[in-house]
Amino acid sequence: MRISVIGCGYLGAVHAAAMAELGHEVVGIDVDAAKIAMLSAGRPPFFEPGLPEILASSVASGRLRFTTDISAVADADVHFVAVGTPQSADGDAADLRFVDAAFRSLADHVKAGDLIVGKSTVPVGTAARLAEELAVAAPGVTLVWNPEFLREGFAVQDTIGPDRLVYGVPDGDAGERAARILDHVYANAVASGTPVIVADYATAELVKVSANAFLATKISFINAMAEIAEVTGADVTKLADAIGHDARIGRRFLNAGVGFGGGCLPKDIRAFSARARELGKGEAIAFLDEIDKINLRRRSRVVELVEQQLGGDIVGKRVAMLGLAFKPHSDDVRDSPALEVAIRLVEAGADVVATDPQAIESSRLRAPQLKFEHSLESALRGAEIVVLLTEWPEFVSLDPDEAGDLVASKRVVDGRNSLDPARWRAAGWQYTGLGR
Ligand code: UDX
Repeated sequence: MRISVIGCGYLGAVHAAAMAELGHEVVGIDVDAAKIAMLSAGRPPFFEPGLPEILASSVASGRLRFTTDISAVADADVHFVAVGTPQSADGDAADLRFVDAAFRSLADHVKAGDLIVGKSTVPVGTAARLAEELAVAAPGVTLVWNPEFLREGFAVQDTIGPDRLVYGVPDGDAGERAARILDHVYANAVASGTPVIVADYATAELVKVSANAFLATKISFINAMAEIAEVTGADVTKLADAIGHDARIGRRFLNAGVGFGGGCLPKDIRAFSARARELGKGEAIAFLDEIDKINLRRRSRVVELVEQQLGGDIVGKRVAMLGLAFKPHSDDVRDSPALEVAIRLVEAGADVVATDPQAIESSRLRAPQLKFEHSLESALRGAEIVVLLTEWPEFVSLDPDEAGDLVASKRVVDGRNSLDPARWRAAGWQYTGLGR
């Protein structure tokens, strides 16, 4: 099929490359010329495992190309919109300016019979509004909302083999035809039995935000238990193991720690709350405000623990910060708990040296005041406290004896509860986890 993808960020670049990998002819479009130049050379502008390989092979085969020229969409019949919907500068709501701009520019170049497929996460009601606008600006073009559930770090795998497909379609023949076209686009996944849920626009939009709200709730639930564990001497990791054995609860997404971050969960729950308030139903999901607060309190708790471990005097103290990305296998530092804690420690006067296998450059852009070390060894050398905030395998597998030889004082705050406390204590470390 002939496909265009508007927006080549974490979502769109992966989607474009994955569609080409599946055999489609794809053009990726973005307003950022530097990003397009890199992608055209077959190089991803961000770190995502598996992406360099499929990008390079699809670009080399000619099935995938990139351009800043929106008129290139005229060569395609199915157009995916994968632009960002960040949090507004002045509140919780999603900023839809990139979505609106993408639809306005697409409308001038599409033809009757084409399909526009929204992938961006939008407030419920957006697709219906855009469909009305399209009916005037581009008659005969059908809009589908097809939310994306990919996890960064597993984005290629999740795009090629999603665990479910959701199509939000209009009523009647147009909707049926649109679902058939999308079945062709995702022919591999459909043939291998991936569940396909065909729904109306509002349901499709809500599936995405409610899935993220549920995941955020699960994480904040266990972090709330961590707060209680901290004042009772209980161990939240054992608690999570025990309740996780109940199949109705499940162990996944019950890892207590510094909490969730990234380009999706935090801003999506805020945008969902803002939209519910607009709809007069703020009370239905008022609990999400509490979920957000629990999550943000974990960042403060880490700062507090570092201060406590240093005997209340943080000024000038050398802190080795292990991790900057919001999660491992990513260079994404959008709303990263690790980066925020690092910044707050520097503001409090600490001498922070941060390291991360992939996220140093992305962090430097946002927080040039931080000191960075590419080598883990150099980051640890002379540290008076070690703070682990992103559970990269190389940090989790760190040998406490070897690390002990590098630091000035054997103190560690494990912000992801991913080290073995017994092992670290046996090696002479003062170990502190979150909620254990
Ligand atoms: C998320 C959703 O998983 C994905 O389906 C959606 O499309 C986009 O948002 P992603 O942002 O890539 O994906 O990250 P995810 O793996 O969900 O992790 C989110 C955050 O929660 C990370 O900061 C992670 O460290 C944290 N987390 C996750 C925990 O603190 N504890 C857990 O048990 C699990």
